[in-house]
Amino acid sequence: MARKYDVADLSLANEGRDRILWADRDMPVLAKIREEFEKKKPLKGMTLSACLHVTSETANLVRTLKAGGADVFLCASNPLSTQDDTAAALVKHFGIPVYACRGEDKKTFYSHLNAVLDAKPNITMDDGADLVNLLHSERSEAAVRVIASMEETTTGVIRLRAMEAAGKLKFPVIAVNDADTKHLFDNRYGTGQSTLDGILRSTNKLFAGMKFVVVGYGWCGRGVAMRAKGAGARVIVTEINAVRALEATMDGFDVMPMSQAASEGDVFVTLTGNKHVLRPEHFKKMKDSAVLCNSGHFDVEIDLPGLKKLSSKLNKEVRPLVDEYIVGKKRIYVLADGRLVNLACATGHPASVMDMSFATQGLCAPYCVQMGKSLPKAVNPVPLWIEQKVSTLKLASMGIKIDTLTDEQSQYLASYNEGT
Ligand code: ADE
Repeated sequence: MARKYDVADLSLANEGRDRILWADRDMPVLAKIREEFEKKKPLKGMTLSACLHVTSETANLVRTLKAGGADVFLCASNPLSTQDDTAAALVKHFGIPVYACRGEDKKTFYSHLNAVLDAKPNITMDDGADLVNLLHSERSEAAVRVIASMEETTTGVIRLRAMEAAGKLKFPVIAVNDADTKHLFDNRYGTGQSTLDGILRSTNKLFAGMKFVVVGYGWCGRGVAMRAKGAGARVIVTEINAVRALEATMDGFDVMPMSQAASEGDVFVTLTGNKHVLRPEHFKKMKDSAVLCNSGHFDVEIDLPGLKKLSSKLNKEVRPLVDEYIVGKKRIYVLADGRLVNLACATGHPASVMDMSFATQGLCAPYCVQMGKSLPKAVNPVPLWIEQKVSTLKLASMGIKIDTLTDEQSQYLASYNEGT
């Protein structure tokens, strides 16, 4: 391996440690799993390479995996989401090699992915399937050692399912994103809050009364629409799926095609997982001062090359992470170069919700070690017992108690002959 780590500035380590420990206060489920891991060392002898957003919440996940006995290596899953102080603290205070510098170029980004694969992992973790993709292309020699992998996000799961359908997957993958303990909370409430946070921090716009266009009504879109409505915005949803469009309508939102929404919106947020959902035909119709941003995994949802071609002038960073494009007589603002607005312009989802996602990830790691060899080379679900454990611990940490079935009720649910 070329370098033992690559972070922007080790002198930020103390600041990073404070933020990691602050996040940890809101991650009680992960802390409990860390305690168990410390005692039982279920990952002993394993090398685990992770490609995740390098945030204070992720730091607590990798600390947990290390406590379980794994040699852990971390690189960034997005060039703009890295918190340099967190990266420095992981290296200096927690002894975890990190390869991530905020704002790194594409070449460095891939050199960092290659660096964590040089560690010869048995287990990998992805947020967007970039490591798995590399293991199936340029780094296929490293794939032979991989027992299993875990995937954190919707976009990654879509890519992995396409690989599975093409018969290409060389090892089993666990779709952590698809667990209820992940997408019902992280995608919905996490993206909902952190996306608004990113827009607010970068623009300081007033939500009350604005026309706010949510592009895509998956779990992330549902969360953003719900929170924008709560902040007083008039929310428009665009969709390509009839069931979701109906759901958005009955949730009380205006649903219309983008050809119409384009001329109405003040702020547009893309969350589709698809490319070019905002493109020149839409830019031409937009109002002066429209703000465009993306909360989907990749920076392909807004057709930026198309916008560049259309515009007569680009004023870079009229505010931090806000670019101004001149289109005819109108101004269009793009946040964070169309990259994840919640992580680039804010600090991502709050720790309390990442607690559930990363507790689910954490418990999936020993499951991969124990079961990986017997799982099909396919996209596999998170076992139900993990979801039960995570939600039970989360409720307990919140001081919330729930009912249990009586024997009579259990029998009733298991029977079929008691009717009207
Ligand atoms: N994805 C969204 N928010 C995140 C966070 N705070 N940490 C890691 N991954 C994230």
